[in-house]
Amino acid sequence: MRLFVDTANLAEIKEAASLGIVAGVTTNPSLLAKEGNGNIKETIQAICKLFPDGPVSMEVTAETAEGMVAEGQEFATWGENVYVKIPFCIEGIKATAKLTGLGIPTNVTLVFSAAQALLAANAGASFISTFVGRLDDIGHDGITCTKEIVDMLSMYPFDSEILAASIRNPLHVIQAANAGCDIATVPLKIIKQLYGHPLTEKGIEGFNTDWAKLQKA
Ligand code: G3P
Repeated sequence: MRLFVDTANLAEIKEAASLGIVAGVTTNPSLLAKEGNGNIKETIQAICKLFPDGPVSMEVTAETAEGMVAEGQEFATWGENVYVKIPFCIEGIKATAKLTGLGIPTNVTLVFSAAQALLAANAGASFISTFVGRLDDIGHDGITCTKEIVDMLSMYPFDSEILAASIRNPLHVIQAANAGCDIATVPLKIIKQLYGHPLTEKGIEGFNTDWAKLQKA
């Protein structure tokens, strides 16, 4: 399973790129608004420079398929690795099918059910973003829903990749991997939590202590 970083913060994205294990970036209108830079094209192009070889998702905000397609065609000119993120809805699925036909990669987002995922796959979505955390937030089982989607789509020759999103903790990442997701998009804080284990830290401390003794021998 590949890891993407879920942020529009350039400092976080730069740090994520330095880790050597992050393969792409996802943004959304809320993450971009949090950064407060009204020049969205400038932000996305800066992100594309930090991740030249990985997908960078930029979400449309139009409400009609025609508007979404026009936005998507514009976003596609911002960078070769820009993926057009499209919220799941009737107009969004129409736009996904159209952009797929134009050869523009898409990320259908805000997917919460197998039914929605099936429609997104039929529209040719490159990524299908299933929101694990937000399902958990309302007492549904986000990982079970995601695994149902992985299992269902795996029976057919769809090209869509399942992208676990709305990740709330390191366990969600492991559960998404065990569910067979292709990608998980993860906040940087949680990516960094994946590294930690008390026995590893204790082991390194012990090695360093013993090595220091040897240097004095
Ligand atoms: O960016 C897509 C998704 O990961 C955001 O989820 O629930 O953290 O807003 P959430």
